[in-house]
Amino acid sequence: MNKKLRIVVLVSGGGTNLQAVIDAIQDGTITNTEIVGVISNNPGVKAMERAEKAGIDAKCVSPKNFAVRADFEEALLAAVQAYEPDLVVLAGCMVVIPEKMVKAFENRIINIHPALIPAFCGTGYYGLRVHQKVLERGARVTGATVHFVDAGTDTGPIILQKAVYVQEGDTPEILQRRVMEEAEWKIMPKAIDLIANGRVKVENGKACIADYTFGEE
Ligand code: GRF
Repeated sequence: MNKKLRIVVLVSGGGTNLQAVIDAIQDGTITNTEIVGVISNNPGVKAMERAEKAGIDAKCVSPKNFAVRADFEEALLAAVQAYEPDLVVLAGCMVVIPEKMVKAFENRIINIHPALIPAFCGTGYYGLRVHQKVLERGARVTGATVHFVDAGTDTGPIILQKAVYVQEGDTPEILQRRVMEEAEWKIMPKAIDLIANGRVKVENGKACIADYTFGEE
């Protein structure tokens, strides 16, 4: 039996992506994996309740408790390292990951972005704003992307993507929900399972997945 992949999940709010990972481990969609901790940058959010309900150690490291941003970043990195994770999962995490943490976990931090990178991503594109921009542009197709985190914003190697059609009458909220249900909650668990089973390598800045047919997520 391979050693279980130890993952720490960073959250900021609702935690629906965290819940998708918890449920996927429960039902065997994700194998060889254990969530060893959840860290939120906001106190009292639903994501923390979800962790506690699942019996997962959860803590809050909030920038509001630090006079200096650098001290918050140090505390966040220390809190992550204390769990000795193999992989850090950003699930609805709104914190810009400090460079020191990216370096400490090179190609061992993954993020879910609610659009098809390189579209509708980068600085200022997060949460509901992404879907607002998709609707403003009149795009027909959007979706979600799981990627490794590098020093840039949404610029790391892409692991999985899943497309979602925009429908007439969509509001940002309706579209966000559809993208979460049809894309995010499927490709995040799938990406973790692939990594947990040694299927994902990064070569020349690209993620490669051996013996895998894309589009079946
Ligand atoms: C989702 O739109 C996700 O794509 C984005 O943050 C939003 C909330 O995620 N990263 P969650 O429900 O907190 O997982």
